This record gives sequence, structure tokens and C-alpha cells, in this order.
Amino acid sequence: MSELVFDDVSVRYGSRRHALTAVAGAHLTVPSGQVVGLVGESGSGKSTLARAAVGLAPLARGRILLDGTDVRALPRRHRPLQMVFQDPYASLDPRMTVGASIAEALPRARDRGRADRRTEVARLLDQVNLDPDRASMLPGQLSGGQRQRVAVARALAGRPQVVIADEITSALDVSVQGAVLNLMRDVQRRLRLSMLFISHNLAVVRHLSDHIAVMYLGAIVEAGPTEQVLADPQHPYTRDLLAAVPRRTSAWDIATEPALDTAEPADPHHPPTGCAYHPRCPAGPLAHAGRDVCRTTDPAVAAATRPHRAACHFALPKEPREDGSS
Ligand SMILES: Nc1ncnc2c1ncn2[C@@H]1O[C@H](COP(=O)(O)OP(=O)(O)O)[C@@H](O)[C@H]1O
Ligand SMILES: [Mg+2]
Repeated sequence: MSELVFDDVSVRYGSRRHALTAVAGAHLTVPSGQVVGLVGESGSGKSTLARAAVGLAPLARGRILLDGTDVRALPRRHRPLQMVFQDPYASLDPRMTVGASIAEALPRARDRGRADRRTEVARLLDQVNLDPDRASMLPGQLSGGQRQRVAVARALAGRPQVVIADEITSALDVSVQGAVLNLMRDVQRRLRLSMLFISHNLAVVRHLSDHIAVMYLGAIVEAGPTEQVLADPQHPYTRDLLAAVPRRTSAWDIATEPALDTAEPADPHHPPTGCAYHPRCPAGPLAHAGRDVCRTTDPAVAAATRPHRAACHFALPKEPREDGSS
């Protein structure tokens, strides 16, 4: 079991006039053996944060630590950190059999013979509920859901302690999404993995996640235990995401004001001043006279003083604890 910590992480793409800050000062912890669901609309920087953890995006600032060790110091091959991507076509070589793809990801062991590798591949296929006979097939002969299971098996072959799953059901038919989500939950529990589970869809992450983190325009604007965030969302953007989820139960009961639809979509090349959400915010200056603080002051600065570290000036303050600690 391992803890993954994003400590004040910023990622910039491009340079000078075309520079874009895709992630800005993100703090996030994936506790050992737990699932953190990361949600936010497309372009909010979720994949960039994930890619930074596996060395695929450059850090402009901050550190990413696995049990206290900078991930940049981890061995390149067979990192204890593995990622599963949205598109299994992109992560599987179409000319390689399923078995060869998985075997390639097994840690190198000099004493491991072919029979041994075959047994290990069969075990991994079984772990993702695929028949070991599939080992001889090519990715093109499998369904989308089966291919994604193979991608998961390949990630597990590296014996990771932490798995980052980035929109892994987004490209799948709705009919198979649930099965892949259940598989991830089973595998996570059985292997006691720490997992960062990313989706633009809150409905997808909430059943799987112990904690939820919400991202908007490169910043984590709210994070906390799943039930607490769902029952008592502090950031207007979180409330907006929740309002988009069909309510099967009345787990939360909030008067949700929709985001202002007159507003321009977020443009990471020209982030708004103050609170990045203010041009769309139903609790902000466009809807409430006198809330100019949203235009002038970054709410992230005092986030630690609010429940769920909410980056909103108008989130409630944290209730003081009786012992005086915070
Ligand atoms: N390689 C890249 N070069 C330049 N800009 C990028 C690159 N990858 C992503 N971006 C930009 O960074 C921002 C965040 O993107 P991304 O991390 O993919 O968000 P998400 O996964 O939440 O949709 C977007 O504005 C996107 O256009
Ligand atoms: Mg993405």
C-alpha cells in the first residue's frame, strides 16, 4: 500500500505568449489503499495532473511523492505507479497478441521461463475476468470493454501500488461501463491499491470513490470524503456538477442554482482574475452585487480554513473544534 501526494503541482505547456498553465498549484493526496475520484469538465487539467505523476507532463513547480519519494526518482520501467488511459487502442499494440502485450509489462525476472510467463498472463487475465484463451487474440478481435480489461491487466502486470485510471470508461458503450467500474472496484479492494480515478462525470466516480476532488481550470476547488462532499458541497461548481447527476436517491438536498449560462466557457489561455469560476458562478459577482472579492482575490489562499478546502469566498467557514485545533 502506498500514498501518492501532489504537493503544490503546476504544469505549463508551451512558452511565452502561447504558454498555458494547465495545472496551477494543485494539492491532492491519494491515501494508501483508497480511491480518490477526480472530477471536472473537459480541459480542467485532470489528465495533465495524471500524466505528470507518470512523467508524461513536465512539472513547472511542486513535487509528486510516492510514500515520500519523488516519482521522478522511481525506476523508469515497472514503476510502482501505473496508468490506464481512456483509449485502449492507444495503449495496446494492435499487432501484438493480448498475451504478448501483458507479458511485455511483467517485471523482468531472469529465472522466469516461457511457461511461467504464460501462467502469469493467464492469472492476470483471470483477475480482470477474461478467459485465459484470449491471450492468443489480437486487440482488434476484442470488444471495447474486453480491450479495456486487457489494458487493466497490463497495468496490473507491473505489480503497481498505485493505479491512475483516466476516463477509462468514457470511450465504452454505456452497457459495459458498469461492469468495468465494478471490476476496478474489485481489483482495487483485492490488491489494496491506491487509486486516482478520473472522470468528467461525477455519477461515474461517486460509487467508486472514498474521496472526491473537484477540479476547475487547473485548480482543485474542493476535496473531501465522498459522502461529505455529496451531502454538503461547498463550492458552487461542485453543486453545479451535482445538479447534472440524476438523483436516484435524495442523498443531498440543496437548492442548486445552475451556473450562469450567459458566461463564456473557461479559457485557460486567459484565466479570469481572482476566482477562476467567477464569470460563471451563481454565487459570484454577476449574480450578487457587492461580491467583488471574487474578481480580485484568489479564494485558494484561505482554502484550508473552509470545509473540504473549498476555494470559494462564500463557502461557510469551518466550524471551530472544541479543542481549539483546526
Ligand atoms: N500537450 C499539450 N500541449 C498544450 N496544451 C495542452 C496539452 N495537453 C493538454 N493541454 C491543454 O491543457 C488543458 C488541460 O487539459 P487536460 O489535462 O487534458 O484536461 P482534462 O483531462 O481535464 O480534459 C487544456 O486547456 C488543454 O487544451
Ligand atoms: Mg482528460
